[in-house]
Amino acid sequence: MTSLRERLVARIRADGPLTFAQYMEAALFDDEAGFYARGPGIGQGGHFATSAMAHPAFADAIAAEAAATWDDLGRPAGFRVTEVGPGTGGLARRVAERLAAHGLAFELVLVERSHGLAERQREALAGLPARWVSDPTELEPAPGFLYANEVLDALPVRLLVWPDEVLVDADPDGRLVETPAPADPALMRLLTDSVPAPRPGARYAVRPALGPLVRALADGVRRGRLLIVDYGGEGEEVHDGRRPPVRTYIGGQPGGDALQAPGTQDITADVDVGQLRRAAAAAGVETERLETQPAWLGRHGIAVGPAEGRTEEDWALAGLLDERLPFVVWTGRR
Ligand SMILES: C[S@@+](CC[C@H](N)C(=O)[O-])C[C@H]1O[C@@H](n2cnc3c(N)ncnc32)[C@H](O)[C@@H]1O
Repeated sequence: MTSLRERLVARIRADGPLTFAQYMEAALFDDEAGFYARGPGIGQGGHFATSAMAHPAFADAIAAEAAATWDDLGRPAGFRVTEVGPGTGGLARRVAERLAAHGLAFELVLVERSHGLAERQREALAGLPARWVSDPTELEPAPGFLYANEVLDALPVRLLVWPDEVLVDADPDGRLVETPAPADPALMRLLTDSVPAPRPGARYAVRPALGPLVRALADGVRRGRLLIVDYGGEGEEVHDGRRPPVRTYIGGQPGGDALQAPGTQDITADVDVGQLRRAAAAAGVETERLETQPAWLGRHGIAVGPAEGRTEEDWALAGLLDERLPFVVWTGRR
């Protein structure tokens, strides 16, 4: 059987170099061999486990936001709770159980593009009423609450070595290698909107797919709240041109060169929250709050006691409340 790398090399030989985003798209979402498409590597003991799964407090805070949104809207009929990119489905299950216990009347919808993960989510949510769509443009507008944890970081990025773009080519030995090409002005603008004076020769990742995704998510919420948790920052917090803008992970540990062994490691890049804020505004969603994950959890009354005598669960919670981690929580209203 041909590997994903061999298929990508054949595609490059036929059609020319790929953008890094095309490469990342294939490495994560190729139907047969993509990292996410294969599904099993996510969750506790898998390639990575996110905060969403680390401690039930995360689901408590999400459920509290959904319940507050329901109240704010006057408890409308047809209220929808939507999770985008639900991973193992464990967070959605916890959130749905808490909301049902609070007496909320809601429809649960999961947006998942990976068939492998959608299957896994169906198992995790067995017995609960829920429906899946594979693309957010399939969401019909409804009053509701929509949330996503660590989804934007998986959206493919294009790479710049300022002022050029970096493409992915194949060398004569069939290895995937970087090659520079003149960058499209629209791509350069995505960076200069955040960092007005990029450093020549420095590496940056930009995410053209973020705007259309945020537009589709916003269009799915007729009235209500959107909440997005991810790691990143604004301006030079995220684009400093010094650290590698793209990272890989295998088994929870830093992985190898992003161009090696596509499909076997996670590929990710920090989220530009300034770009998120601008994309939301363009889609008619006003930024309500931007706070660190510990501040958000603290606002929901979630705290951990002193270090002595902590259980394993307390330590997981302490991890979520660690101010040194770059997780931010963005909320928007419409
Ligand atoms: C890094 S994982 C996070 C999983 C989960 N939210 C968690 O916190 O454990 C990214 C998830 O987003 C999904 N995903 C990525 N891009 C997507 C898109 N455009 N539409 C829907 N799901 C997407 C992936 O398949 C995967 O489930």
